[in-house]
This record gives sequence, structure tokens and C-alpha cells, in this order.
Amino acid sequence: MKKINIKKYGGYDKLLFEDHPTPKVQSKHVLVKTKAIGVNYADICVRWGIYESAKQLVGLPITPGFEFSGEIVETDSEVKNFKKGDRVFGLTFFGGYSEFVSAPESQIFPIPDEVSFEEAAGFPVAFLTAYHALFQNIILKRNMKILVHSAAGGVGGALVQLGKIKGCHVTGIVGTTKKIETVKSLGADHIIDKSKEDLWSKAKKISPEGFDVILDANGFSTLRKSYLHLAPTGKLISYGFHSMLPKKGGKLNYFRLLINYLKTPRFNPINMSSSNKSIITFNLSFLFNRQDLLQEAMSDLISWIENKKIIFPPIQPFPLNKVDLAHKNLESGETVGKIILLP
Ligand SMILES: NC(=O)c1ccc[n+]([C@@H]2O[C@H](COP(=O)([O-])OP(=O)(O)OC[C@H]3O[C@@H](n4cnc5c(N)ncnc54)[C@H](OP(=O)(O)O)[C@@H]3O)[C@@H](O)[C@H]2O)c1
Repeated sequence: MKKINIKKYGGYDKLLFEDHPTPKVQSKHVLVKTKAIGVNYADICVRWGIYESAKQLVGLPITPGFEFSGEIVETDSEVKNFKKGDRVFGLTFFGGYSEFVSAPESQIFPIPDEVSFEEAAGFPVAFLTAYHALFQNIILKRNMKILVHSAAGGVGGALVQLGKIKGCHVTGIVGTTKKIETVKSLGADHIIDKSKEDLWSKAKKISPEGFDVILDANGFSTLRKSYLHLAPTGKLISYGFHSMLPKKGGKLNYFRLLINYLKTPRFNPINMSSSNKSIITFNLSFLFNRQDLLQEAMSDLISWIENKKIIFPPIQPFPLNKVDLAHKNLESGETVGKIILLP
């Protein structure tokens, strides 16, 4: 079978399209022939060698990829709820960029009727991240005011939709004008186009008293101002740092990375307590053993898909052997919705 293998960290040329033996199905696992594979910003960080869980828990060589959809071709005798031929989607702790994935039964789910393999493949990571942020870290209530950075992206778009499902007032921020329509279609109440208007004066106009929740994966470029624009009792959820990283060329500039790291604000808990504002942060890839969180989230998310409360984001497909182009696109910061790979 074919899979993408990384033997050395670096640019697009490090994504090798190779032949490997098809994995053997392990205990309590199913073997899935993949039909589509989700691409996430984290996969780019894996390629660069700066993704902590990949370095600590896997090392090199590594096949990136956290999510996939496909058909079960084999099940271990201890698997209870799935059989050969089932249409499934699910999560894998790396190894997703492959024609076959062996995954534990607990990490796969039946694809709801009317959902395509392409839609299903790009769903879990973005929506689980958004769900974890909004429902497993804070107490989200109706009419709360939420501000979502990069609202047309994979996670950003999911945050907009889940915020609306809860009845919140959602403002989405986009980096380019062409992303506005996508965020509108997801139900945002307000959109700030930071390429055309001043982000923070518009945010202040929309919510003069500040926001109850701000979701920021930019890192140093907006984190300090995001914190300042919280209302008392507000929560800043910081779940990524992509503004530290390059948008083109595919290679890291370590000097720039260090400067941007040093520019990342540090917060003082003594001042935070006086202003009643908090910061929350997490990385889902270190929570792969938390079955309780996964099952709770997927159960709600699948029921929202079935009740048509969630719409699938726009999808841009690339063949598996053109993974370099998929990374180049996502890295550019220009994409909307999800990028997927087709084996
Ligand atoms: N903590 C976790 O467990 C977890 C889980 C999943 C994802 N994440 C993080 O969530 C973020 C979004 O991930 P995603 O896969 O859904 O990607 P995405 O949002 O589809 O794409 C990234 C978006 O970020 C913005 N951006 C700003 N500066 C950028 C830069 N230097 N390079 C590239 N993009 C830049 C761009 O939107 P605008 O220009 O419109 O802002 C771009 O479209 C990433 O930072 C990722 O690491 C974290």
C-alpha cells in the first residue's frame, strides 16, 4: 500500500510517497481502507518537527494524519460493534496519510447517512477541537458573546457553528475578504474582515463591554489584545500559535521563530485575578487516552449532524501523492473550510 512517510523534518520534499506493507489488524482494532483523509495545520507542524506529541511519543519516521474515513476491510475477533464493509470515520494517533489505517474500535464511528466520505474525513479534528474548547473547558451559556479568530478555517468554522448551536452571539474574524461568505453561511452574527477594517475598534463597537469567550489560535500576533477585549469573567481560549510560522516557502526560519516565541505574551495570575479574566489552553493530541471526552463529544456531534444542525464546511481535495500541494495551500493561510487527501 501507499503512504506518506517523513524520515527527516523540513520542507515539502520531506513528504515521501512510499510503498509499505499493509498494517496487520491489532487487538480490538479494525483495518480501514481509506477513502479520504483530513489535513490539519498540526500535520504541517509534524513535518517541520515542532509538534511536541509527535516528537515525544513517536519520533522519526512518522506518517502524519489524525483523521480519515473509509470502509472496514477486516476486524479483530474482539471487535464488537463493527463489521467488514461498514462505512466509518475516525481518529488515529498519527498514521492517517495512508491507504490503510488500523484503528482501535473506540476511535471509529459509523458515518451518518447522507454524509460523504469526503465530508466525514475532515470532520473529527476540527469539530472535536471546537467541542472541547466550548463544552469541556468552560460553562457556555445562551447569549454569551464569542469572538472567533480565523473563523473560515477548519476549527474556526466549527467554533462558529457550535457557538450558534448553543444560542451564543458569535463574531468571526477573517484574514481576507473572500472568506466572508463562508463565515456568513455558518451563521456568524458579525464578521470582521481584518484585511479591510481595524480588528479591535470593530470588536469594541460590536461588544463595548468585551467578550465572554475569545478563541485564539494565532498566538503572539493577537493574544495580548484578545485578553484585553475580554469582559469580566471572560475566558481566552488559546489553542494554537500559527502566527509564529511562515506562510510560504515550506521551511522554518528558526531565528524568526525564536523572535516570535519571545514576543508571545506572558500573563500574571495576580493581575488576572483582579480583572476576573482567565486563559485556558489545551492540546488534544495529548488527550488521546481520554475516551470519556471523546465519546461524549462524538455522541453530541453525530446527533447534531443527524438533526441537520451542523453543515459541512467547504472541502478542497488533493490526491494523496500531491500532499505537498495540500500543505502548501493550508500553510498559505488563504484556505477556507477543510483540505482532504484522496488515496
Ligand atoms: N490545541 C489543539 O488541540 C488544536 C487542535 C486542532 C487545531 N489546533 C490549531 O488550530 C489552528 C487552526 O487549525 P486548522 O487545521 O483548522 O487550520 P485552518 O484554520 O483551516 O487554517 C489556518 C488559518 O489560520 C490563519 N493564519 C494566521 N496566521 C497564519 C499563518 N502564519 N500561517 C497559516 N495560517 C495562518 C489563516 O486564517 P485567517 O487569515 O483568516 O486568520 C488560516 O486560514 C491551528 O493553529 C492549529 O494548530 C489546535
